[in-house]
Amino acid sequence: MRVVVIGGTGLIGSRVVATLRDQGHDAVAASPDTGVNTLTGQGLADVLQGASVVIDVSNSPSFEETKVMDFFTTSTRNLLKYAAMAGVRHYVALSVVGTERIPDSPYLRAKNAQESLIKSGGIPYSIVHATQFFEFMKRIADEATDGTTVRLPPVLIQPMAADDVAQAVGRVALSAPLNGMVEVAGPQQFRFDELIRQDLRERDDRRIVVTDPHARYFGAELGERSLVPGNDARLGEIRLEDWSRRPVLAK
Ligand SMILES: NC(=O)c1ccc[n+]([C@@H]2O[C@H](COP(=O)([O-])OP(=O)(O)OC[C@H]3O[C@@H](n4cnc5c(N)ncnc54)[C@H](OP(=O)(O)O)[C@@H]3O)[C@@H](O)[C@H]2O)c1
Repeated sequence: MRVVVIGGTGLIGSRVVATLRDQGHDAVAASPDTGVNTLTGQGLADVLQGASVVIDVSNSPSFEETKVMDFFTTSTRNLLKYAAMAGVRHYVALSVVGTERIPDSPYLRAKNAQESLIKSGGIPYSIVHATQFFEFMKRIADEATDGTTVRLPPVLIQPMAADDVAQAVGRVALSAPLNGMVEVAGPQQFRFDELIRQDLRERDDRRIVVTDPHARYFGAELGERSLVPGNDARLGEIRLEDWSRRPVLAK
């Protein structure tokens, strides 16, 4: 089966392509690097020819409010249009657990807009909501840093490894369209401030994590359970301590 992975050169996309190829599918990585640009439409008609499934795991190069909204809405409109023309039978997209309940975050508002377009786009679809990736912890710390201080709220978080995300996305893509959303998460819950404190300690990063219930996460105040999934979430297998022990190149 031909499966086109938009953002197939990225953190999740490269892993999705690998897992699908391992299972014998004709998985194609599509991104500006391979001549496919969803913002302009360049290369979409060609790459989608003969594709049964399209998986969108692309990400906006900028998280600035206007740019991120433009990225997810323009690229999704283009992708839906070209996928419909190519007769794609299943449209899969990766989004974030809690997207619908954190409207103060410009990034998540853009992901919400992406999801609305997909739902009304006329192609059978599946939306995968994942929790924060282990690989994203450093970016979280950087975003919350002021000088040598990192401010984070003590709310619950259930992060997961990129490898588990890719497995979950691959599985959904090879199943019948859900015409709905499924949540995936890691096998353990943590307190957000403590998780990042531990991660910085392991990196010998001297920044101090200050617990602040009102600290904003990419622009939004969080409630106790804003970031954690419901009871039906499919859980990954990779525990944080096992992922942390991996050599840098295997992360
Ligand atoms: N970070 C988290 O904790 C988290 C949690 C849940 C869900 N997610 C979702 O996971 C998804 C993937 O994230 P990621 O970390 O794997 O992203 P990433 O590593 O930053 O990769 C982004 C990919 O998008 C491609 N891309 C950028 N602009 C494009 C364009 N105009 N046309 C086509 N492709 C384009 C990039 O291609 P080039 O390399 O060629 O530029 C790259 O392949 C995102 O949608 C995000 O919302 C993230």
